[in-house]
Amino acid sequence: MNLFDEERRNPSEPDTEKETWVDRRTWLTGAVSMVGATAAGLLTPALLPAEEGESVRPTHVPGRSPSPYGVRAQGETVQRLPTATHSLTPHHALHGIITPSALHFERHHNGVPSINSDRHRLLIHGLVDRPLTFSMNDLVRFPSVTRTLFIECSGNSGKEWKGPTGTTVQETHGLMSTSEWTGVPLSTVLAEAGIKPDAVWMLAEGSDAAAMTRSLPLAELVNDALLCYAQNGEALRPEQGYPLRLVIPGWEGNTCIKWIRRLKLGTAPFMTREETSRYTDLMPDGTAKQFTFVMDTKSVITSPSGGQQIDPGFVEIRGLAWSGHGKIVMAEVSTDGGKSWHTAQLQEPVLPKCHTRFRFGWRWNGDETIIQSRCTDETGSIQPTRAALVAARGVHSFYHYHAIHSWRIDRRGAVTNGQV
Ligand code: CO
Repeated sequence: MNLFDEERRNPSEPDTEKETWVDRRTWLTGAVSMVGATAAGLLTPALLPAEEGESVRPTHVPGRSPSPYGVRAQGETVQRLPTATHSLTPHHALHGIITPSALHFERHHNGVPSINSDRHRLLIHGLVDRPLTFSMNDLVRFPSVTRTLFIECSGNSGKEWKGPTGTTVQETHGLMSTSEWTGVPLSTVLAEAGIKPDAVWMLAEGSDAAAMTRSLPLAELVNDALLCYAQNGEALRPEQGYPLRLVIPGWEGNTCIKWIRRLKLGTAPFMTREETSRYTDLMPDGTAKQFTFVMDTKSVITSPSGGQQIDPGFVEIRGLAWSGHGKIVMAEVSTDGGKSWHTAQLQEPVLPKCHTRFRFGWRWNGDETIIQSRCTDETGSIQPTRAALVAARGVHSFYHYHAIHSWRIDRRGAVTNGQV
């Protein structure tokens, strides 16, 4: 019998060879699906009905020609979860640390503007020696910098303050993503205009229909911030700020102003809407903290996570850890609701102010349990328990929730949001 005879065989005919073969290997359960006894059966499970446009025998039909811009494979349908104001990254379905640009989370304050990069300008004025206007061509000519960085909305996991609210990791932690960002250092561009000595704060303004504006302390950001025109090797996506976005490594996503058109230097914060009524942190005593920029040490298990299903036996626990203070030095996993902790393996590359992938091999015995992760960064900052975070911050805040996250696994292997 050659390879293709096997494919043509009537599937309803009993196959003694196959049954014996599978029988001898009953220990191989779960991870590997046994579709047939021969190489042809294993290579092309032809008994599955073909989808429209799919080659059941790709070796028999020439494939399609090269195309000018790639699309993902038919049948790959992982997507963002969009609402009117934001969309969430599907971390349960992603690998490594880079978020595909098309799946990077979004948060818009009045929609995505359509901007022609030829007409776009960046104005620098206020307390500078020479007010200047830059075209995109001007900015791209400066020496460039590329960094792989996370951006996290400070509202990421914000609904978890009130209790276990999100069903999936996309809902609880989808307002964060990681990209390779390329641009010109902010310091290079400001040096062209000349910073006056009394300039301490910088207003950054977007050219969206909300004219998103934030005040930023110059000394803290000037060495690290980038004016980015590229993401993952190509021009920014419109929803990520095309043609120009301010990226401040480790700071709340809202400060990474998209569609940026104006920088004004001044002596004091400008007290815009987004730093007075919004993006402030309500404390238990009723006061609110302003200008809390750095995203704290945080991690989450992305698999297994809410909405997924596991089987007893080997399970690789996978997740992401990150800190706006610097590099992750340790990720730990608990499989008994926080009673004991095991050091997880950090997957290279481990970069400052970037998602770090961790993994931990676990054998699930089929008992109900809770799995958690926590991490430590290079400054010694450790992700807090929910109890510790709530003791310090109460439950009436919305931004900067970074407590240890719990996934409950029931006896059937179903995973749900299980705050402890
Ligand atoms: Co904040």
